[in-house]
Amino acid sequence: MTAKELKTKYMAFFRSKEHAEISGKSLIPENDPTVLFTTAGMHPLVPYILGEPHPEGRRLASCQKCIRTLDIDDVGDTSHLTFFEMLGNWSLGDYFKEQAIEFSYEFLTSKEWLGFNPEDLHVTVFKGDSEVPADEEAAAAWRRLGIPEQRIYYLPRKDNWWGPAGQTGPCGPDTEMFIDTGKVACSPDCRPGCGCGKYFEIWNDVFIQYNKNEQGNYPPLKMKTVDTGMGVERTIAMLQGKKSVYDTELFEGIISSIEEASGRKYGSDKETDHSIRIITDHIRSSVFIMGDERGVKPSNLGQGYILRRLIRRAIRHGRKLSIEGNFLKKAALAAIDIYKVFYPELIGAEELILKELETEEERFLKTLKKGEHEFEKLLPALRKNPRAVIPGRIAFRLYDTYGFPIELTKELAAEQGLTVDLEGFGKAFEKHQQLSKQGAEKSFKGGLADTTEMTKKLHTATHLLHQALRLVLGDHVQQKGSNITAERLRFDFTHHDKMTDRELMEVEKIVNQQIERDLPVSFQTLTLKEAIALGAIALFGDRYEEQVKVYSIGDFSKEVCGGPHVEKTGILGAFRIAKEQSSSAGVRRIRAVLQNS
Ligand code: ALA
Repeated sequence: MTAKELKTKYMAFFRSKEHAEISGKSLIPENDPTVLFTTAGMHPLVPYILGEPHPEGRRLASCQKCIRTLDIDDVGDTSHLTFFEMLGNWSLGDYFKEQAIEFSYEFLTSKEWLGFNPEDLHVTVFKGDSEVPADEEAAAAWRRLGIPEQRIYYLPRKDNWWGPAGQTGPCGPDTEMFIDTGKVACSPDCRPGCGCGKYFEIWNDVFIQYNKNEQGNYPPLKMKTVDTGMGVERTIAMLQGKKSVYDTELFEGIISSIEEASGRKYGSDKETDHSIRIITDHIRSSVFIMGDERGVKPSNLGQGYILRRLIRRAIRHGRKLSIEGNFLKKAALAAIDIYKVFYPELIGAEELILKELETEEERFLKTLKKGEHEFEKLLPALRKNPRAVIPGRIAFRLYDTYGFPIELTKELAAEQGLTVDLEGFGKAFEKHQQLSKQGAEKSFKGGLADTTEMTKKLHTATHLLHQALRLVLGDHVQQKGSNITAERLRFDFTHHDKMTDRELMEVEKIVNQQIERDLPVSFQTLTLKEAIALGAIALFGDRYEEQVKVYSIGDFSKEVCGGPHVEKTGILGAFRIAKEQSSSAGVRRIRAVLQNS
């Protein structure tokens, strides 16, 4: 069965069960700063899952293009992809667990539909913990359908739970469906979710039934939702008896173009396959990100940055395969060719995609050269080091600032008789990853969070920074702009000169002192006049309602602001200014982060 046939069957099946087919949406979520990309079919449906009535009713089905980069390091194995299509069906307060599981079972195993052998089907359910009981209801539904005990696995929260981690809001257990590929078990404990590839996850039914509150309790939701996601690429791989998603018709054209450019054969050895798969996956994602109806170009920010990383990683793996010239364009054309029937937006974007890829390829080669140059500049100092080891933080700086891959740093170091402190690099890298995971991608699995905790913390830190700047530089400091992502804050303010190192240190110190004082954050509602009389900072030029909220941070700061903020400053961690630069004439810009918070 081809991908096209699978999609057609899925919709026919759910239509026969009274579901309305809704169209897939853009890969770039609208009005949602908590995620960079649409990561699941449920994403565009969040307002309806939270209770807004859907115009098409309470039973819906869709095919949604998705990007997930959280698992990027697993790409290259048999099943992980950064771009994939997700088929999904929803019940918004209509049917629940038993019926959802029955639908899944019927679609998977009935000869009329997919016709999987029921004996190859393994399922997981939530095992329960100190907070929420095991999902016996789901397990019982599977038993009733004839799945024997040994093929029902009870797994912990990290495997079988859906919802914003550690946050409040709608959430619940899920049940995942795996096909046994017939591969030899990796160990006596081999089971779905172990990652060796014997069990292929193809579908996930989520039961959003709780609403976690601030006290950490789980009162049941009035309107319960079923949210399911079936991976198109994985499911057809299993239907076609293939070992990996890359062996299906969806990847053929892209893989041949890489084979042609490199002169290597897919399937000849593990390393070659790994690089070919990574290029194939990354080029597909890049094509869809640029070719989206809200298309994005490579840049150093947000979605553009992820796109740039994908393209650069593809180029690097191209070099690994000894490809010399420009090869991305041909691979991109192959990807467009496969998908243009389903996603006509790709046709219109073809020219732009090819142009951007070419520019990015040239730019990256220049970056590589620059990195090499930086590396050479480091050499004299490094040679004085008797241990002749490149510190991890320097290797990380080369990577982070110049986009210089660690493999290249290692290679160049070896040529000079030096080694690299890989452990130190790993640590610096992890720290960076933690910061960015706290960011947009953190809610990749969730998608239901409105204000992430980190955003709130950075917002409170912004108030502290504003006041500290006024204390250090003077009252002429006025906020000109503020932008918060879950990773960092950015603050623009009026001030003429570049800040000195001393001033920056002083500001950092003052902010950290207020954090250490663990000041309470509270608000009162006042008229604007009263607020100003109290000495609250209001933004010049902003329009305010009659009544405003004034946020106070202990005795340190008072500012007119809508919130939300954290309750106490103590949880902010360490405040660090990452950069101070000019923003426009008379306006400076600070980027700052919170570490260990
Ligand atoms: N939203 C669920 C998932 O992505 C179905 O797995």
